[in-house]
Amino acid sequence: MLIWKERQEIMNNILIMFKGFYLIGLVSGLVSYPVNLLVRNMSLAKTRDQMVIRAIKPKPDKNHLILRNLLLCSSLKRGEGYFNMCSGCHPIKEGSPHRFGPNLWNVVFRLIASCSNYVYSPTLIKLSNLKWTFNNLNKFIKQPSNFANGTYMTLSGIKNPIERMDILNYLNHNSCKPLLFTRFKFN
Ligand code: HEC
Repeated sequence: MLIWKERQEIMNNILIMFKGFYLIGLVSGLVSYPVNLLVRNMSLAKTRDQMVIRAIKPKPDKNHLILRNLLLCSSLKRGEGYFNMCSGCHPIKEGSPHRFGPNLWNVVFRLIASCSNYVYSPTLIKLSNLKWTFNNLNKFIKQPSNFANGTYMTLSGIKNPIERMDILNYLNHNSCKPLLFTRFKFN
């Protein structure tokens, strides 16, 4: 008789335990469901916002990468040919006297307007604390008056970037120590 009662008590306890588990499950489900829903909606809204931002945002300007790649596959031989457009005004051999334009031997990384015994325009002299980086040279020969308004260099500019990079290759070649193209950056 006693054993039967004990068994029933154990069964009751197990039942109560299961009910407890069920209740805990029910309550946690009731709580977690709206929370999950909220989090999901929030992350959905976030990805939607990101998609909208991505659609509106203009693509980053890849111009500098294009110039860099053009420089890496530029041709010295073509550059020498294009330099004919410059050689009427610019000598490039070391020690040659300036013409209408200054001698361009070793111009890469030279300070702007720094040739002795050459009379530069006031606008170029104003920039003489800067160097002729490839970035500056590229801008200058693309449209001289845009880089230095009032420059004496009356060249409308080389609009084709392939030609400009070939010319920069040639200028770099005509230096004391030609530099690796990977060192040059554009913006
Ligand atoms: C019509 C003549 C003329 C032509 C053509 C010309 N230049 Fe010039 N260039 C000048 C003059 C003049 C200056 C001096 C500019 C000043 O003082 O404002 C100059 C200055 C420069 C400078 C600055 C030099 C320094 O010492 O700071 C560079 C670089 C240059 N030219 C590159 C070129 C290249 C490259 C070409 C060919 C694509 C070219 N130029 C074509 C006349 C010319």
